[in-house]
Amino acid sequence: MIQPSVESKQQGLSLVAAMASSAVLGIAVIVLALSMYSGEVSTEQVFAEPSVEFGRRLIRETSAMMGPGHEDPAKRFSGSNLDCASCHLDTGTEPGTLSLLLADTKYPRFSGRDGVEGDLRDRINGCMTRSMNGTELDRNSIEMVSMEMYIKGLASQYQLMGDSKRSPDEPPAFQEPNRAASLEAGEVVFQERCQVCHGEDGAGLKQTGDLADGYLFPPLWGPDSFNNGAGMTRLLTAARFIKARMPLGQPDLSDDEAYDVAAYMNSHERPVRANLEVDYPDLTRKPVDSPYLPYADNFSHEQHKLGPFEPIREYYRNL
Ligand code: HEC
Ligand code: HEC
Repeated sequence: MIQPSVESKQQGLSLVAAMASSAVLGIAVIVLALSMYSGEVSTEQVFAEPSVEFGRRLIRETSAMMGPGHEDPAKRFSGSNLDCASCHLDTGTEPGTLSLLLADTKYPRFSGRDGVEGDLRDRINGCMTRSMNGTELDRNSIEMVSMEMYIKGLASQYQLMGDSKRSPDEPPAFQEPNRAASLEAGEVVFQERCQVCHGEDGAGLKQTGDLADGYLFPPLWGPDSFNNGAGMTRLLTAARFIKARMPLGQPDLSDDEAYDVAAYMNSHERPVRANLEVDYPDLTRKPVDSPYLPYADNFSHEQHKLGPFEPIREYYRNL
């Protein structure tokens, strides 16, 4: 069963996307519309045992269900007020970029970042501790088991989808420019295409005065965003997502614009994750655009953050 609050938040967002992209209406109108459509996020319903529905709520309304503003301090597992669905759009049910529809079928698998094989629960904890800047969930906690049940259920949902629904409704895949990204050009794209929703300072727009209600527009950087060990801090990962999905409702950026604005977004301060140097025990497996030290090559730290990446790949191909 789908909770009313889930449905109405999605309606609210599509409405906002339509309004903001028409760019004639101000934020005040947007906020008014959302307060009409977004509905109350209720944490009152108590989930006593793991369920697909609890898993869906945790991914859709992570901030309310286990964020830093949760009334029970023991339930504050996430360290930011992002939702998993801030990146895994439509609660992971949208095919294409960052879809969770087929995630279950890919695990267990080897993780270059961890240097060992991991299962779906390990992967969820990867996003918990990096994308959500939070703490690891106990592998057998009701939260972990419910999210896993939900994600496993998506694979059967995918089987039932017709071919047309399985194909992603997004622009052609991002093609990486063979140059360094330009922060100046990225700032212009940000101001013209992102700021209206994500805010002048990239800090997003809260749903209500209560932190626990989460964001209408999530922050792109700053203390309440993903941390510096998250996948989204990789320039190519961010550019692929942004080209496919942003501006929300009207993803029409060129490859160059997506590349530059992703670099601009990731040039800002965000929470710092400790011990990143132990990631990728085999450094030759480290992605070329991983933005933190160390590397097994002599390219500059700057080039690993901004590109061009092709010369780095070529170096590793020739090892
Ligand atoms: C800031 C954006 C962001 C947020 C928030 C986020 N994720 Fe992720 N997630 C990613 C990225 C980026 C990847 C890596 C995709 C890749 O490897 O290409 C990923 C990968 C995953 C995968 C593996 C998918 C696959 O196909 O292998 C799972 C499962 C997942 N996330 C679950 C979650 C859950 C559960 C939450 C909330 C607790 C969450 N994510 C929050 C960005 C995010
Ligand atoms: C119409 C409003 C709107 C515009 C314009 C917009 N976004 Fe978003 N963006 C959103 C919403 C809403 C989400 C969260 C999706 C959800 O919860 O369903 C989001 C999520 C994101 C995320 C992942 C979550 C996070 O906070 O990191 C990134 C990255 C992002 N947007 C980048 C951009 C960039 C870059 C631009 C400009 C090119 C942009 N967005 C333009 C509304 C917008």
